[in-house]
Formats: sequence, structure tokens, C-alpha cells
Amino acid sequence: MKRLLVSAISLTMPTIAAISNPTPAGMNPIDAWEKLAPGVWRTKIGHSEKELSYTSLAARPPRFEALNALPEAPFPFQGEPVSSLQNDGLVLVRIPCEEDESIYGFGLQLDGINKSRRVLDLNVDHWSRGGGRTHAPVPFYISSKGYGVFFNTARFIKVHAQVGNRKDSSNNPAPVDRNPPPQEPAAGPWMAQPPANAIEANLRAQGLEVIVFSGENLQDIVSRYNLFCGGGAMPPLWGLGFWHRVPASFDAAESTKEVEEFAKHDMPLDVLGLEPGWMTRSYPCTFEWQKHRFPDPAGFTQAMLNRGVRLNLWENPYISPDAKIHKALEPLSGSHMVWLGIVPDLVLPEARQILTDQHREDHLAIGVSGYKIDEVDGYDHWLWPEHAVFPSGTSAESMRQTYGLLWQQMLQNDLYRPANTRTWSLVRSSNGAAAGMPFTLYSDSYDHAEYITGLSAASLGGILWTPEVRSAETPAEWLSRLQTVCFSPVAMLNAWASATKPWDFPEVTDQVREVIHLRMRLLPYLYTTFADYNRKGIPPIRAMILEDESMISTIEEKSAELDDVNNPYADGGMLILEQNDQFMFGPSILVAPYYGSHSKKRSVRLPKGDWFDFYTGEFVGNGTTIEVSSPERTPLFVKDGAVIPLLSKAINNTREAKDQTLEVRHYGKAPGSFELYEDDGLTFDHENGAFSLRNLAFEDGKGTETEINKGPRLFGEVANWISMGK
Ligand code: GAL
Repeated sequence: MKRLLVSAISLTMPTIAAISNPTPAGMNPIDAWEKLAPGVWRTKIGHSEKELSYTSLAARPPRFEALNALPEAPFPFQGEPVSSLQNDGLVLVRIPCEEDESIYGFGLQLDGINKSRRVLDLNVDHWSRGGGRTHAPVPFYISSKGYGVFFNTARFIKVHAQVGNRKDSSNNPAPVDRNPPPQEPAAGPWMAQPPANAIEANLRAQGLEVIVFSGENLQDIVSRYNLFCGGGAMPPLWGLGFWHRVPASFDAAESTKEVEEFAKHDMPLDVLGLEPGWMTRSYPCTFEWQKHRFPDPAGFTQAMLNRGVRLNLWENPYISPDAKIHKALEPLSGSHMVWLGIVPDLVLPEARQILTDQHREDHLAIGVSGYKIDEVDGYDHWLWPEHAVFPSGTSAESMRQTYGLLWQQMLQNDLYRPANTRTWSLVRSSNGAAAGMPFTLYSDSYDHAEYITGLSAASLGGILWTPEVRSAETPAEWLSRLQTVCFSPVAMLNAWASATKPWDFPEVTDQVREVIHLRMRLLPYLYTTFADYNRKGIPPIRAMILEDESMISTIEEKSAELDDVNNPYADGGMLILEQNDQFMFGPSILVAPYYGSHSKKRSVRLPKGDWFDFYTGEFVGNGTTIEVSSPERTPLFVKDGAVIPLLSKAINNTREAKDQTLEVRHYGKAPGSFELYEDDGLTFDHENGAFSLRNLAFEDGKGTETEINKGPRLFGEVANWISMGK
């Protein structure tokens, strides 16, 4: 028999504290909560100041001006979280949680966003290891009851989410006799894993900081987390164009030819990614140009820039003995090597200085626009062991949790920010408080369904994710993967090994071009979406639960046959019903990509409210589940009243966006508006007020434009107001 454990919960205000647990034996109540901003509280347990915190590595300090402008929200617990410092060096934190709460988050978990009733090892690792280990195991979760909890300490953290029944807990489920005698009535199904009423997190550390967030709804809670972590990253406009990474051995001539091919095929291109072969040595690396392949790096970079194409350089941060900076970095590196390359200790300012000077001179000065920082994840066989030592005294464990973050922070804050130049880059590991990092995560795994889930998962923890395209078995798969990636923070083909090009499956080339062109046309909408991430903390791409809380997952216990070899506990596991194969792209577009066995037909669950087809404006439903079966175009649905600015024409490079006129569409019947954000698209001057805002409003079939803030503009005037409501 199935038992429904969690049902949809509608929430407006956090309402925890229904259960009042006595303080468990040996644990101390945490009552020293310091209010930092409306809806944000912090506590410090043990010697948290001796630990590396994620927020200390954030790209920017907390955005208190934005947080303080938000309404107050109630503290979600009543002195119930408890902690203990145990004899064996473990710190334990126990946060109350009822058994019917749905728990979400913990970073880039690609196997689903609901993390209720799991045990997770939050360690930076390659995704294939699973069990919580992932490229970005952000120790932040949100609950369906309307609060968020952030463990702000860079340690391996093991989380028991509603798993592990304490004997002094006041509301454990009653035990059920698994083998009742025949005369007794059955008492309901026996459960192999009775749910527990807490989240317990343990770590080996001298202490830790815990930050609690509360707000009006789940999106507001995530936004406050992002604002506390410095606000979301703001891309340069070019970062939102199309990216192509060429095969690892390509030289300057081959790369140039590839760019020309894009133009011939009328395919957009803004960023060309060079893979390891651009360096004199790779694995370990030198970060120096390979002159046999690129005899004139400055000339090559400039020629690309002249075509509007930016360069992104692949690197992994392990330094070859042949690198000119090796000698200086040797004493500033850890005890163990990775791929026989030294591992610079980025906590040391001297090490950062050497690296940034070299990167500035050899790359930034000639116009290199960004990096792909690879292999900063990885498990024991790849990276340094936990007993490695680093000259700064930072533990090897904290270094593993933050190495990707440290590279992001160095490149953003020491290299690009002082040059007043924005980058949009890639990285393979990240962690807490990363919202302000202009880096998007990617993986070597390649499951299309997981790649789509990643877009929702990332939105819950202040990270960005690209479901990059590499290859495909069929034209249909090729098209659907390209369609997915066009609705992500980095629309990228990574042909480093496959040597693929967007036009490789001629049967679908027109549709591939159409979706990339659509992304380009949506630039005004997308750029504003990122400005809202930057200024208000709103994730640019969002899990459905942040849009409509009636979409909070339900969990069903699954029954299973007893099998004395394969399933001696007749444990059917849980069936988590969640909608993680569709997501919100910006404030008003719902994207439901085709994928895998759903490559020709799929269902789409529409949130409450009227929804309209993006392409035709036709009404499609309200809180209903619909079927779609036209794989030539990505299913896109728009909210009632949405106003969406597009470029009037498709373009092949973001440079062409300059002064292009706009088509402003209005969907449905409700009046609506869109505050279009623009700045210079390149620098940090927007942080000092150099941006423009124009309000595009639509009422009674008529559009009006009002200037709210005068500043630099990227796009032209509105040429067309179109009413799409039918
Ligand atoms: C992998 C990375 C690939 C590619 C390759 C180059 O680790 O995930 O995208 O860059 O290295 O050697």
C-alpha cells in the first residue's frame, strides 16, 4: 500500500515551530541568533572564526542596501536548532524539520531537486560519484515550509535530511511490527526507513557559522540568500551570445576557418573557446601560448575581436615545471601535485599576484575575455589528499571545497574587476556564496534529463549551469540538446573532442539556427533578467517551485516485493513526483525542452494563472497539464500579462544588437509591464549608476515607454508593439 507522506503545501508565511522538541541530551540550544538584515539571521558555533567561510570568498559583500529595503520576515524557528561539539572532533548541528516538509537544494544535484529523506556528502567532486558529491555541493537548503539554512563553513559536510531517529525526539513515528501474529490487525506498512524530524549536519571543524533565511515565498528566500552573497553575477552582453569550443589541437588557422564557417552558415557566434592545445604544455599547464599553433597570439586575438568574437581559454590550474611562473610559485604551493603540476595556494596574496600578473600580461592585455577553469573538482585519485598541506595553513579539505571558488574569486576580483572589464567564464567546481561569480558550471557527464534538471537545481543555490552540447546520436537529439542549451546562462557547443558544428545534422540545421536566432532576439529580455539577478537576487533561470508553490513535490513510499537476496527489507524507495524537466527562463517564459524518451512528445505542467503559447499567443491552459508534440520548436509558454522585449531582427553577433530596434510583445489580457535594463554591456560602471531603465507598459492593447533612469543604452527604440493575446 502506498502512503502519501508529503502533500502540496501552500505557504505565504513561514510557520515552523509547531513541534517543540526538548533539547536532546548532550546538545546545546542555539539561541544566539544575530539579525543581519530583514529575514537573515546568523549564529556562530564553536570557533567558527578559525574556519574558512564561503562568504569570505564571495565576489562582493552582502547587498545590505537591497536587503534592508525588503519587508521583515519572521524567524522560522523558536530556539529549537541545537548543536554539540563532540569528543571526536565532530560538530553536529540539528535543525528541526517536520516529516512532511520537502527539502530542496544542496547545490548542483543533477538527479532531482527534492532532497528530502536523504543522506548527502556535500563534497566537491565530479558528479559521477553521486551521493551528494557534485561540482557545486552548496550547503544551502530551502524547505517547503518557507525558510532556508546555509552552513557557511568550507568543510566536507554530511547531511542527514530527515534520516536518523533520535531516541529523545518527541515525535518519532510509532514502530510497526513487521511480522504481526495472525490474530492482530495489521498496523499499516512497516517502513525500512522511518522519517526523522530534523536535518542533522555533521562536519569535522573547530566550529561553523549557520545563516538562516526567511521571506515571503521560496523565491524571496533564495533571492535573499543571493543578495546576502553579494547579488547575482552580471554578464557582459557578449556572454549571452552563442559559444563554440574548438577541438583541443586546433591552431590559429583552423580556428579562424571555423569562425568563417559560422558566418557562411548564418550561425551566431560570440565566443570561441580554445581547449588545452593553445598552451605550450597542458596537464600540467603553463598558461603560455603555444607558438607552433598560435605564432601571433595578440594578432590572432585582435583579428577575432575585429569580427566580434571573444576568446575563452581553457586552463586547469596545475602548473607545469616548464611554466615561467613555476619557480616563483613552487614555495607557494601545496605539498602534493595534480597531474604532476604544482597546486598554487590561492589563499596567499603573493601566489595570486604572480598568477594575475601573468594572466594580465599574456592574456587580458591582448584582449582575452575569459577562461574555462577545468578539473577543480575531482575525487581522491585526482586532487590532493586530505593530509596534504598548504603554506597558508588552510586545510586540504577546505582547499578542496573552495579551489574552484578561489580561482573564480581571483580572476574576477584581482584580474577583471581592476581592469573594469566584465568576464563571463566557465568553471567545473563551485560552492557556497558564489552568486556574484561570473562563472557557469559544466560537467563531463552527458545525460540530457539530468542536464535539464541542473538548470532547476542551480537556481536554488546561487550558481549557474550550462547543459552544454557535445554530440548526439540522432538529428532529433542534436536539435533538442541545442534547444535546451539556448535557454541557459551559456549557450555553448563544446566540440573539444567531437569536432561537431551546429550544422552537422543537415536535417535539423534550419531549426538549430532558428533557436539560436531566437536566443539572440531575446537578448533584451535576457539581459534584464540577469540585471534582476544582480540587483534583486532573483535567479535568472528558475525551478518551477520558485514560480508556483503548488508545484512542490509529493513523495510516495513505493511498495516492493520481498526478495531475500535483492531486497530483504522490501524497500521500494520513494517516488518523488517533481517537475524538474521544465523551468522558468526569466520572469515570464516557461521552457519545456524535449529530451531522451520525450524527444517527440512530452507533457508540460502549467502553473496557476493563464498561460499562452510564445509563438502564436494562443491560450494553452491554467494550472493544467498539456501534451506537446512539435519537436521542431522548443515548447515555450508565457504568463498572462507578460511583456517581452525582443530585437526586431535576428542577429549573428551581440555587436549587432547596438541600436537595433525592439519588438515588444504583450501576452494575454492582463495589463503588464517590463522594466528594460541597459548599461554599457562591458564594464562595472553600472554599479555606480551608469545604467538605463525604461518601463515598457501595455494596457488596453496599447504600449507606452517611460524612461525611469537615464544612462547608457544597448538597444534601439521600440519599433513595434504587438498584442499576442488571443
Ligand atoms: C575535460 C573537460 C572537457 C575538455 C577536456 C579537455 O576535463 O570537461 O570539456 O575541456 O577536459 O582536455
